[in-house]
Amino acid sequence: MSNPAILVDNVTVHYGEVLALDAASLSLDHARICGLIGMNGSGKSTLFKAIMGMIKPDGGRVLINGEPPSKARKEGGIGYVPQSEDVDWQFPLSVRDVVMMGRYGHQGFTRRPSKADRIAVHDALERVELADFAGRQIGQLSGGQKKRAFVARGIAQGATMMLLDEPFAGVDKRSEATITRLLRELAADGCTILISTHDLHALPHLCDEAVLLMRKVLMHGPPELVLQPENLAMAFGLDVLNRDLPVQEPGGRDADRDIPMVDADLSNQQGRS
Ligand SMILES: Nc1ncnc2c1ncn2[C@@H]1O[C@H](COP(=O)(O)OP(=O)(O)OP(=O)(O)O)[C@@H](O)[C@H]1O
Ligand SMILES: [Mg+2]
Repeated sequence: MSNPAILVDNVTVHYGEVLALDAASLSLDHARICGLIGMNGSGKSTLFKAIMGMIKPDGGRVLINGEPPSKARKEGGIGYVPQSEDVDWQFPLSVRDVVMMGRYGHQGFTRRPSKADRIAVHDALERVELADFAGRQIGQLSGGQKKRAFVARGIAQGATMMLLDEPFAGVDKRSEATITRLLRELAADGCTILISTHDLHALPHLCDEAVLLMRKVLMHGPPELVLQPENLAMAFGLDVLNRDLPVQEPGGRDADRDIPMVDADLSNQQGRS
């Protein structure tokens, strides 16, 4: 049997005294789109960073295709769209430069782009509809365009796994539809996708499965099941039971309703080790 695309095995992460992940475990199969939901401070970004190997867990382990994250990263296998707050948008890089970063693994020691690198960057920018913005400083894009630039970096990289941390935050419907379409295409080509979002309404349209996180993985299953109010209440508190949540029509997608974003915040109830 092949290894899971992502294995998170009992991962614990502290920032000083703050317990961000508490023996979180998750196994994700190849070519699936998995939605990660949980309130502010529940550990979503920390989980992404642990999967990327950007932070070292205090306990447990992460395996990407059965190997440590450092190996998968070195091979360019993981594309990462960070949460906006985690990016220095003032950095003097053009959109083209950012996408070219995805090609570093394909370049030699000198990091001199080849014709193939330039073509890959151009094609990726075309795919996310940003070819006209290639020369612009990355910080001078709109919120949705910035997200698409990072998706293009993953595409240029040839990533077989994409981690997207709130790619729909502050994004208009057009960018959201472009990103959703791209993710579906990437998954159809075998790419494994983990995506965090506060937009529960979008979840059934976007994802094959969903994960509820609150320092631990509380639940992992079909979006329709995870979105049941009693399950959401475990992660967001009982007040979500009073909200207008996505309703599954028999045999169909959820009814098109105006669903509020879930914006609960865990920071007032912070776990301490
Ligand atoms: N660099 C850091 N130093 C100290 N504490 C941190 C750091 N990064 C995150 N934390 C804390 O760890 C916990 C988990 O944070 P994390 O960013 O993973 O949550 P999140 O689910 O991504 O939240 P959000 O929905 O707001 O993005 C929070 O309590 C947060 O305050
Ligand atoms: Mg976050």
